[in-house]
Amino acid sequence: MLFSKTLLTFTAILGAALQAHAHAAVSPVLGVSGTAARSDVQRPSNQKPCGKMDVASAFDSSDAIPVASDGTFTAMITNFNKGVDGSRQVAQVMVDPKGTGDKSSFVAATMVANGTKSPKSVDSEQLTVQLPAGMSCSGTGGKCLVSFKTAGGFGNCVVVQQSADGAAAAAGGSGKAAAGRRRAFRFARVPVA
Ligand SMILES: *[C@@H]1O[C@H](CO)[C@@H](O)[C@H](O)[C@H]1NC(C)=O
Repeated sequence: MLFSKTLLTFTAILGAALQAHAHAAVSPVLGVSGTAARSDVQRPSNQKPCGKMDVASAFDSSDAIPVASDGTFTAMITNFNKGVDGSRQVAQVMVDPKGTGDKSSFVAATMVANGTKSPKSVDSEQLTVQLPAGMSCSGTGGKCLVSFKTAGGFGNCVVVQQSADGAAAAAGGSGKAAAGRRRAFRFARVPVA
């Protein structure tokens, strides 16, 4: 009895320590205005791609990142710890074109510029993501929800917004959008070391 209580306490402390040592957030965090803080970091999963965040109440009022006409957008990732624990490398990026946050709505997006796997300092870095070709964001105002999960298992969702032009280009395949797809294709073929 005494042993199991001690073990439980130990496990709880270990869990808290692990939680405190592996954080990175992509700004602007869904439901958070201004710079992301460590406490804004979630543990995204396939079941809950935005972690504990209540998507329905945060989606419409969140700052949205503009999507370029070639389907790409850039976002800033900030780590709060060094090393793989505070990894700025995105292991999984998924987009929900409806913006509901329902796990069944998410499909894979593509990292065009990924972050540092094991950062030596606490810093920020720019990520570039490409939405699937032809994707049309149907959340209020042409918005999609994007979930980021880092190699450290942390991350969060962000809201992105297509312009009317961008959505038309994505659907119709204008020269620019087609060029974007070619670029993404070339990236996808780079062999992983
Ligand atoms: C991010 O980059 C790493 C290293 O190149 C790669 O292994 C990983 O698959 C990339 N993430 C995504 C979501 O493509």
